[in-house]
Amino acid sequence: MPKLTSEISKAVDSLVKGKLVAFPTETVYGLGGDATNEDAVRRIYKVKGRPTDRPLILHVPDLATVKKLVLNWTSSESKLANSFWPGPLTLVVKNGGLISKSASAGYETIAVRIPSHPFALSMLELFSKTGSGIVAAPSANRFSFVSTTNAEDVEMSLQNYLDKADTIVSSNSQDECKFGLESTIVDCSNDTPTILRVGVIKKSEIESCLGKPVRISKVEGKRQNSPGSSLIHYSPRTAFRMISNSEIKKDLIELCKEGKTFLWCFERPVHIHQNLIVEIAPSCSVEYGRQLYSKLNSLDREQLALILFEEPPKNENWNAICDRLEKAENRLNTKKF
Ligand code: TXA
Ligand code: MG
Repeated sequence: MPKLTSEISKAVDSLVKGKLVAFPTETVYGLGGDATNEDAVRRIYKVKGRPTDRPLILHVPDLATVKKLVLNWTSSESKLANSFWPGPLTLVVKNGGLISKSASAGYETIAVRIPSHPFALSMLELFSKTGSGIVAAPSANRFSFVSTTNAEDVEMSLQNYLDKADTIVSSNSQDECKFGLESTIVDCSNDTPTILRVGVIKKSEIESCLGKPVRISKVEGKRQNSPGSSLIHYSPRTAFRMISNSEIKKDLIELCKEGKTFLWCFERPVHIHQNLIVEIAPSCSVEYGRQLYSKLNSLDREQLALILFEEPPKNENWNAICDRLEKAENRLNTKKF
């Protein structure tokens, strides 16, 4: 474990100095800074290229720290926290005012989670002994592009914007982002709790924990974003679209004519073409989710004319994946108008 211990101290050292750390979580890599340090938080927005009106998720090591951040802690929040923390759930709660104004973008609520990844958790525990213990961290990618799940993809995405004193925590098997998709965000401030972003934890799991129905908001982080502006998200630079099984049978060869085309599909297509590269995607949603962003990031470096992913099944297990793929398509859709 010595490598891990020294990487944790290095990461915490950067946080204490007000620098940034790209660190693995069980969902995706986060780009973290001390949430009580205004300058550090401002740099997160700058490095990510994110508009400053979109608040960041706060990562903390334990429930005691969550309670310091929150104005009032309800029974619904308590139930969800007990069931899913540490883990891939983010709760939107009333802001107690402890963190920098930039991290909450001046809103009356904050988004907070306790991650379960061993590196993230140990880093937060050590940082709570030597500093605030509260790390503001969006996903470690340039705004609107594909999230990252390994150190190489973080480097490709952010190296031109980071300083020498910032840290990118290296990937190893212990540091893998085992879910590969972002946390589920739940807002319990109304009578009907609302899922603001579908994620690893499913709607049915939230409902059975709370014992009541919850709704899904159509636009991620809706209250913080102007309508439509967050629709392009998780999106590669290369033209990307989903394709149905019947379109694969009918239109695939026509679509390949534009140039080198990659198809990720669930069964080998009948027709082939010299421009076409085919790979079979995992049929298990958990494995698909784990691979999704690293696949998209590596395909985005391949100089392809078009990336095609076969539409996944329409059931709850694939909900978060379909959400990300639909938003990823929007860069191409927007160009058409
Ligand atoms: O899995 C995750 O949640 C990852 C890892 C690093 O923890 N983080 C992540 O952060 O996905 P980010 O910044 O890429 O997405 C945060 C989302 C944004 O859509 C933002 O609008 C929303 O959380 N958000 C943050 N604070 C909020 C608040 N007070 N109310 C509603 N939405 C909020
Ligand atoms: Mg993100």
